[in-house]
Amino acid sequence: MAVLIRVLMKEKTLTPEQKTIVQETWTQIAPIAGKAAQLFYGRLFEIDPTTRPLFRFVNMPMQHDKLMGTLGTAVGSLDNLEALLPVVEAMGRRHVAYGVKDSHYDSVGAALLWTLEQGLGAAWTAEAADAWGTVYAAISAVMRGAAKVEESKVA
Ligand code: HEM
Repeated sequence: MAVLIRVLMKEKTLTPEQKTIVQETWTQIAPIAGKAAQLFYGRLFEIDPTTRPLFRFVNMPMQHDKLMGTLGTAVGSLDNLEALLPVVEAMGRRHVAYGVKDSHYDSVGAALLWTLEQGLGAAWTAEAADAWGTVYAAISAVMRGAAKVEESKVA
């Protein structure tokens, strides 16, 4: 069975309540996506300076839109995970070519959760943190898995 489905449904279940929390909190972040993305990259480069050179040739404002756009798509697809899976796997494979290493996913996860906390204020409850942590863990597990397969082909 597909990794994403397994992670979300079995290993760490995303309950209907958690889905609702993620989708509702996302509607609060979407209008401030530009600001949130700025906070996110600032935090990421601070906690893991090894990520900074990866973005050296990248147009950062455009990158901001892509990251937030992808998160929005993922959040909108929580009810249709099978459709999301090949998209996330392909994204994981592309990230190998960007120079992204396995450990970077933890740094990105930490920066993302911190950013949501800043953006959501009082709406960042323990339940929201848990739900978002689960969603990020699932998406990044699929990307990391696809990246490992890709790396073993290159090696
Ligand atoms: C859930 C995790 C992630 C999501 C949703 C995500 C999303 C994206 C998207 C949508 C793009 C645009 C290009 C494409 O689709 O291939 C992109 C590019 C990029 N990502 Fe990620 N990413 C994630 C994790 C990471 C991590 C862990 C790193 C490492 C620090 C990273 C570094 C980059 C870089 C350097 C590019 C730019 C490539 C270029 O345009 O030259 N990403 N990401």
